[in-house]
Amino acid sequence: MSMFRQSIRRFATAADSASPYGIRVGKVQGTVNGFTGAIGNTPLIRLNKISDETGCEIYGKAEFMNPGGSVKDRAALYVIKDAEERGLIQPGGTIVEGTAGNTGIGLAHVCRSKGYKCVIYMPNTQSQGKIDLLRLLGAEVYPVPAVAFENPENYNHQAKRHAERLENAVWTNQFDNTANRRAHIETTGPEMWAQTGGKIDAFTCSTGTGGTFAGITRYLKEVSDGRTEAWLADPPGSVLHSYIQSGGKLTERSGSSITEGIGQGRVTDNLKQEINLITSSFTIPDEETIHMVYRLLDEEGLYMGASSALNVAAAYQLAKNIGPGRTVATILCDGAYRYADRLFSKSWLRQKGLDKAIPSHLEKYAVLD
Ligand SMILES: Cc1ncc(COP(=O)(O)O)c(C=O)c1O
Repeated sequence: MSMFRQSIRRFATAADSASPYGIRVGKVQGTVNGFTGAIGNTPLIRLNKISDETGCEIYGKAEFMNPGGSVKDRAALYVIKDAEERGLIQPGGTIVEGTAGNTGIGLAHVCRSKGYKCVIYMPNTQSQGKIDLLRLLGAEVYPVPAVAFENPENYNHQAKRHAERLENAVWTNQFDNTANRRAHIETTGPEMWAQTGGKIDAFTCSTGTGGTFAGITRYLKEVSDGRTEAWLADPPGSVLHSYIQSGGKLTERSGSSITEGIGQGRVTDNLKQEINLITSSFTIPDEETIHMVYRLLDEEGLYMGASSALNVAAAYQLAKNIGPGRTVATILCDGAYRYADRLFSKSWLRQKGLDKAIPSHLEKYAVLD
């Protein structure tokens, strides 16, 4: 009984420190209105082993618990809401996007729940599994040749032209549409701040469109009067680490990465807005990322995709840098389900030169040949 009272008190405290956006956390979950009502309000999970090891409180925001399975549900909802609010789309209209991954899945779900058609362009190098999933969620899918962004036949440009050809259609443009970043300023950031009772010393995560990192950074900087540090975590092959370290002079890239959905060749509009708020950046090699995929499973029971593991590897490094007693937060973007045939395959790991990155006591999780 007393434990129950104590937890009620904790919830009340969290709710009292509600953000200017009126976020209330810790309320007993009631009913929600449709699929979109279930987006957000995800738990903030204390990562016990690495917290105890570093003496910091390290938290991962459980974005894999969104109803479409990833952090991108929030962006999908906001870019569609933005199009509605600006009068760009009417009932029965069509949402068009260029995406190879989670944004398409989020958009397909939100479109079904709101009664829009969904059209997705993606590079034809993507797996049949991804195409099938989008189709079974009701989307019309166009796999097109994988060409550089500068080429007019790039999947993003084709998506834009497709929307222009239709009546009552919108290209949601996730990379440069800042409604994406707004989702995280208005929801993810305030949730995290309230969930920790206003104690986040440092935040780190990687970027694809930059919406998640930039939006949360913006909110945390504002609410903490600039005290919360924001570290961008980059995979190999992305230009952002070099851009940030050189004060915007260089955009060098080296290597490539097994991670999906993150790493960038340019500063998107979503990221550009907050580039001056960034404390610093680091790159996380694939060896550390894959090791953390296995550690999270073994130590925390968390079955996470590579971008989440990279984020946690970054939070772990940051905790070691800033010393004990501090609170560090990051994002658990999606689960490992869509990537299991690679991340847990012995031959794939060998082929990528990553088999040696997994310590022998964790090798037992690589159960696929
Ligand atoms: C698995 C995964 N992690 C991270 C990200 C990056 O999020 P953002 O686009 O907000 O930078 C994405 C984006 O698609 C993703 O699919």
